[in-house]
Amino acid sequence: MARILITSAIPYINGIKHLGNLVGSQLPADLYARYMRARGHEVMFICATDEHGTPAELAAAKAGMPVAEYCAKMWAVQKELADGFGLSFDHFGRSSSEQNRILTQHFARRLGENGLIEVVTEKQIYSVADGRFLPDRYIEGTCPNCGYEKARGDQCENCTKQLEPTDLIEPRSAISGSTELEVRETRHLYLRQSRLRDRLETWIDSKTDWPVLTTSIARKWLHDGDGLQDRGITRDLDWGVPAQFEGAPWEGMEGKVFYVWFDAPIEYIAATWEWADAQGLSDNDWKRWWRSDKGAEDVRYVQFMGKDNVPFHTLSFPATIMGSGEPWKLVDYIKSFNYLNYDGGQFSTSQGRGVFMDQALSILPADYWRWWLLSHAPENSDSEFTWENFQVSVNKDLADVLGNFVSRVTKFCRSKFGEAVPAGGAWGEQEKALIRDLGQRIRTYEQHMDAMEIRKASGALRAIWGAGNEYLQSAAPWAAFKTDPERAAAIIRLSLNLIRLYAVVSAPFIPDASAKMLEAMHSDDDSWPEDPGSALTTLPAGHGFTVPEMLFRKITDEERAEWQQRFAGRRD
Ligand code: MF3
Ligand code: ZN
Repeated sequence: MARILITSAIPYINGIKHLGNLVGSQLPADLYARYMRARGHEVMFICATDEHGTPAELAAAKAGMPVAEYCAKMWAVQKELADGFGLSFDHFGRSSSEQNRILTQHFARRLGENGLIEVVTEKQIYSVADGRFLPDRYIEGTCPNCGYEKARGDQCENCTKQLEPTDLIEPRSAISGSTELEVRETRHLYLRQSRLRDRLETWIDSKTDWPVLTTSIARKWLHDGDGLQDRGITRDLDWGVPAQFEGAPWEGMEGKVFYVWFDAPIEYIAATWEWADAQGLSDNDWKRWWRSDKGAEDVRYVQFMGKDNVPFHTLSFPATIMGSGEPWKLVDYIKSFNYLNYDGGQFSTSQGRGVFMDQALSILPADYWRWWLLSHAPENSDSEFTWENFQVSVNKDLADVLGNFVSRVTKFCRSKFGEAVPAGGAWGEQEKALIRDLGQRIRTYEQHMDAMEIRKASGALRAIWGAGNEYLQSAAPWAAFKTDPERAAAIIRLSLNLIRLYAVVSAPFIPDASAKMLEAMHSDDDSWPEDPGSALTTLPAGHGFTVPEMLFRKITDEERAEWQQRFAGRRD
């Protein structure tokens, strides 16, 4: 039994995530966590909300709420949706937690003591009316490029030109609208991550088994990007982890907080601490996942994220860990994803384009979405959601293949033998061939799951379902029943057992349907089919079952057209 630590990139607190966000980190991480638990490993699966930074402040202001209140509310919304999608986190934390404040300040202090943090004096725009320094995006004015009057200090939304606040014509504060702006001197903390370049490069080079998507992005930033430039890690905001604290090896950081990307990944650790606290456990119980001196050296740590997050997880966060000089766990494997597009364009939160998690659950249960999203995960390239494709996948894979098998077998048995596993009849050549075939297919499925090859794994699972259908079709118990009821009984006994086996191996993809299948088989034996021959004798003759309600329904053409239209426009 191994110990596996799994983290999903933590979603920003502002707003409900769309299906592209979901398939880029939380959902595949859940698939892997469920699979590893099913194989008997000890798993710690962590996620949280990413609550600090300007976007949270702006969203709270827009909602007319104090930022702490806004975050608490949105955490609950995101938690409920995560539960709705069956995301089986051991803990869903909050980066605004006390634990994260303590750990973030701890890491900063260690980095400072190790000479990796520098105090830099720079010039920044100060708003006299607001009594504060303004981050670039809090400054508005007219774009010098296109004349758009509401351009932001970092970028013009209209013509997309990257800007400096000083480029703006008639700049004003986005908070108060005041034009009384001054350039003043201020001090910020800079992380000297360039000093860790060699260590980072050696470490990345040692990761020969990582997906190319991950290592190519890391190398690009190491070499030709400005990825390892020394970076400012403080901001002039109230909301965040205070950069001035007791024991800090610097002074004059009052009123400043750490940059959100500095504290967010530390929340992976902090959320595990939050988990231990919530369970009434000790320090050691969370440190055994994170500290090599507390037993974490045999933990395998796997991270899931979208490709835009890769530089922060291959360079910045490892720099924080390495620079601390303490035995914190570095990631062992990073599974990263391309983007999921929506019906000929991009999913977009700011434009409200696509299907969002709450909307998805309002039209169909989670398993329908889980199956489509995972079986179309954007692994090797971007992929695209279309309603046609969604309809075809659901109707074919879930309804025609899996759902139909369960329904045909259970209904046939009820009508001919009653609601119990029938006795009589021995397995013949056909059954032996099926068992051999399943044995191979299950091993293939395991190999893809172990390797986190999600599309391939979904294909292998589909083939396992298909093998049962083909068997049933050719063994034809309905025909056998007329001449040789014992033979029909043997076929059905195997097929009922196959439903239980399907429930177990399908659970990482479609946990709710799997639970229904197990329940229908009156079984709580969810042990993994290490040996399909014996797994298919789990339910003995005489064991009762119930015909389940339809597992998956088909999506009609009318529904498809209606949803296509309903989700074509902007989310309100
Ligand atoms: N909130 C970020 C995003 O959605 C991800 C943060 S991941 C972490 O892109 F490492 F910082 F936690
Ligand atoms: Zn412009």
